[in-house]
Amino acid sequence: MKIYLIGMMGSGKSTVGELLSDRLKIKFIDLDSTVETNTQKTVSEIFEQDGELHFRKLESKALENTIGIDAVVACGGGIILDENNRYLLQSSGKTIFLNSSISELAKRLESANDRPLLADKHIEKELEKISSERINLYEETAHLTINVNNRTPMEITNHILDQLN
Ligand code: S3P
Repeated sequence: MKIYLIGMMGSGKSTVGELLSDRLKIKFIDLDSTVETNTQKTVSEIFEQDGELHFRKLESKALENTIGIDAVVACGGGIILDENNRYLLQSSGKTIFLNSSISELAKRLESANDRPLLADKHIEKELEKISSERINLYEETAHLTINVNNRTPMEITNHILDQLN
């Protein structure tokens, strides 16, 4: 079984992904962490030193490398920007969009300093802008959309498991 979690930064993909993989007894893969391990750099360092485009290539490669592996995969928020990535997400597993309000995302990301796209920006405004550019892609790519507002990671996990059954 293969499950991809997609959605904006701060939507809980990694936390929910770990819980879900535990319950399904399959591997958990976090694409950002995979890229960081492979390069021995943080995502912020890659953005800073090599540029976003280079990060996107590494991210796509990390996604391709999960094909054929039974796992829950937490994808970086920008995974859906690439057409081939969208094709892989739609054709090689079940893709779930964790949909969150901007205000909840902003609350969670308030003190985060590991999201290069938000660095030195007004967080809520920037999230609004990014989300409006991506929302259609998240919705088109996902087989299932889960509203995560006001739900704990455990409740979201249970809800996903109900929907999968
Ligand atoms: C990004 C989201 C981040 C990370 C990078 C870019 C994005 O992952 O891949 O900072 O473009 O939305 P998370 O969604 O896990 O925060």
